[in-house]
Amino acid sequence: MIESNAGDAIIRIFHVHKHYGAKKALIDITLDIPKNEFLFVTGQSGAGKSTLLKLLYLGEAASEGHVLLDGMNLSRIPNNRMPMVRRKIGVIFQDYKLIPTKTVFENVAIVLEAMGRKSRLIQKKVNNLLRTVGMEDRAQSYPPSLSGGEQQRIAVARAVAGDPKIILADEPTGSLDPESAEIIMDLLKGIHRRGATIIIATHDHEMIRKTGGKICKLDQGRLVDFKKADMIL
Ligand SMILES: Nc1ncnc2c1ncn2[C@@H]1O[C@H](COP(=O)(O)OP(=O)(O)OP(=O)(O)O)[C@@H](O)[C@H]1O
Ligand SMILES: [Mg+2]
Repeated sequence: MIESNAGDAIIRIFHVHKHYGAKKALIDITLDIPKNEFLFVTGQSGAGKSTLLKLLYLGEAASEGHVLLDGMNLSRIPNNRMPMVRRKIGVIFQDYKLIPTKTVFENVAIVLEAMGRKSRLIQKKVNNLLRTVGMEDRAQSYPPSLSGGEQQRIAVARAVAGDPKIILADEPTGSLDPESAEIIMDLLKGIHRRGATIIIATHDHEMIRKTGGKICKLDQGRLVDFKKADMIL
């Protein structure tokens, strides 16, 4: 079981609201997430799990409140610094978001290319990752020819390729059989052991029970189960 290593917060969410027009997707969320936490975000469909993750990877901006990520206030990040922030984060999207016109290999390699890694290292790392997620024989395939579960495994490989400090995963095992789900969870646990902070949105209570860590439960946009953070701003 994973125990949380209390320490400095790597993510601080302070009185955050997110509205989509009249819809209140998140209401007054305050939460500190320590470095190297393994956190599950749970709650019913529509509770706000994906919205919370979107605020963290700059997919959406908060309507009110502040999100601090590794000491940076995301509401004050100029557009030209956003790529630098995003490089700290590996995201596994609920709908995968692979690039359909690039091969499986290229979809994973893109992260390492953006980091300026040498092509020999990229070859080795991508091939290792594809082997780990059981997709090495599909390296030259294109995402539209893959099943949902296969695309999800590629999305996981891409998210972890750059050894990011933070992994945000939205239902990362939602389309997987139990065996593939376990491989993915082992991969995420390995990255956690190397010091990363992992945040997973999931309905899968069995996965949470087996993994440990912490749970933050959302209900209709409100945080209903997690220790409240101290005032930070
Ligand atoms: N772009 C949007 N425009 C309008 N409403 C939105 C938008 N995105 C999300 N919402 C609404 O905000 C609420 C929270 O959505 P969110 O996707 O965060 O839920 P979730 O907990 O991830 O659900 P699920 O388990 O189904 O993935 C929902 O009521 C949803 O309809
Ligand atoms: Mg969601």
